[in-house]
Amino acid sequence: MVIKIKNICCIGAGYVGGPTMAVFASKCPDLVVNVVDINEKRISDWNDKDLSNLPVYEPGLSYLIEKCRNKNLFFSNDVKNCIAKADMIFISVNTPTKKTGFGSGQALDLRWIEECSREIAKYSAGSTIVVEKSTLPVKTASKIKEILNSSLKDRSLEEKLNTEKEFFILSNPEFLAEGSAINDLENPDRVLIGGENKEAVDALSKIYLNWVPSKKILKTNIWSSELSKLVSNAFLAQRVSSINATSAICEKTGADIKEVSLAIGLDRRIGGKFLNSGPGFGGSCFKKDILSLVYLSNFYGLSHVANYWEQVIKLNEWQQSRITQQILESLFGTISGKKLAILGFAFKANTNDTRESPAINICKYLIEEGSILNIYDPKVKKSQIQKDLNFEKFEHTHNILEAVQDVDGIVILTDWEEFKSLNYCELYNSMRKPSWLFDCRGVINKKLAIEAGFKVWVVGNGT
Ligand code: NAD
Ligand code: UGA
Repeated sequence: MVIKIKNICCIGAGYVGGPTMAVFASKCPDLVVNVVDINEKRISDWNDKDLSNLPVYEPGLSYLIEKCRNKNLFFSNDVKNCIAKADMIFISVNTPTKKTGFGSGQALDLRWIEECSREIAKYSAGSTIVVEKSTLPVKTASKIKEILNSSLKDRSLEEKLNTEKEFFILSNPEFLAEGSAINDLENPDRVLIGGENKEAVDALSKIYLNWVPSKKILKTNIWSSELSKLVSNAFLAQRVSSINATSAICEKTGADIKEVSLAIGLDRRIGGKFLNSGPGFGGSCFKKDILSLVYLSNFYGLSHVANYWEQVIKLNEWQQSRITQQILESLFGTISGKKLAILGFAFKANTNDTRESPAINICKYLIEEGSILNIYDPKVKKSQIQKDLNFEKFEHTHNILEAVQDVDGIVILTDWEEFKSLNYCELYNSMRKPSWLFDCRGVINKKLAIEAGFKVWVVGNGT
């Protein structure tokens, strides 16, 4: 049996749902793609005529939205009807760490997954393929299946006669990284599809085959697919913690982290990517997915495995606190009343996302020590920073030069392109003396900065 997919619904119009469905719509003009969300503001932002108001900033995204929106890509709050019309439904809702109750601080909060499953159970019609796009603990598919199938039993005889409902569940985790989401979606390293039903797996695979070569489509059992996503993020985060641990040794010994990264990365077994030391990993997923893995390991009685992964997070937190201590020590042990310019607040370049950004912890530490902050980020709004810091007494500036007026030090926290070619002399002349430049991303030209008069500290390289 070949299952033909004409109409797709994606539940969740966030950083994954929006860009992923924009690429689906662009690559498959014959598909109708509805992206739905319970958040009305988010949907109205996706429908905003002014493309600079889209809720997600990603290079290349506005072009796709302009190309497909209201042609075969629709954003709406009409969850019920879009589910009812769909042959295939992607669940792409948030799965944050639980804040209270059993497993709080580690387990993923699956309440939104359950809500969606119940809505699908209620409103879907006919044969429906339900795809897990959100990142989930292993075995979640069995819970979704139970919710969906229990709805079949609850139906009255009349309903059973009128519609033939059936569900197939697949896992198709998303590997896009923010800031390069469109490129990652258009040219993925792999597409992973886990599922029991061959026809359903083939139906999803057929959609991807519109732009992804078949050798990149990996079909596995559903538990391997769910677990691979968690472990993939854990491996990436572990690399960041490994290189940050090495950066601390470099600073003590006179080794240079850039040279060490190059030297180890030339080994093809290690590879050169993801070896930049910095203020620690941020983003909505690394920490929560490792915590989920820690929870899962403990759940199965594997405490050694849990402790191993937990250390990746501890090292990440330590990196942020040691950077703050470095700033404090350099500025004569006190920053009370001193002004600092923070360059970059997003968790990485090319995104407006600040979730778990290292800038949040570092700025909070600096504020606690009494420092006055001027914060500049090309894409993050002042209201977002206020929310993240739970604090309002900072300056949000429109450019770098405005941020550095009369400050004692500059702290680079995000690797935005514009921070890689600073006009050191101009900045130095605007600051109080001695003027410090703390480069937590290793992006500056240290020699030029020193020549301009700066005292400089670079992560993994020191002063
Ligand atoms: P997000 O918070 O940006 O978006 C989730 C959206 O789902 C929200 O707009 C929310 O209103 C909506 N939602 C929640 N419950 C709903 C319901 N019952 N009906 C309709 N809409 C509902 O989250 P995100 O960053 O897009 O992440 C989604 C999932 O994808 C998570 O599991 C995450 O781990 C995973 N993931 C994220 C990334 C990333 O880069 N952000 C990458 C890969 C995987
Ligand atoms: C990450 C993964 O790369 C994606 O494959 C995955 O789909 C996604 O998480 C997810 O599940 O949410 P993302 O968090 O968007 O993507 O961005 P990354 O490029 O992985 O960066 C994560 C953090 O690590 C950032 O704070 C970044 O600055 C930091 N990082 C990354 C470093 O400090 N050094 C590096 O060499 C690389």
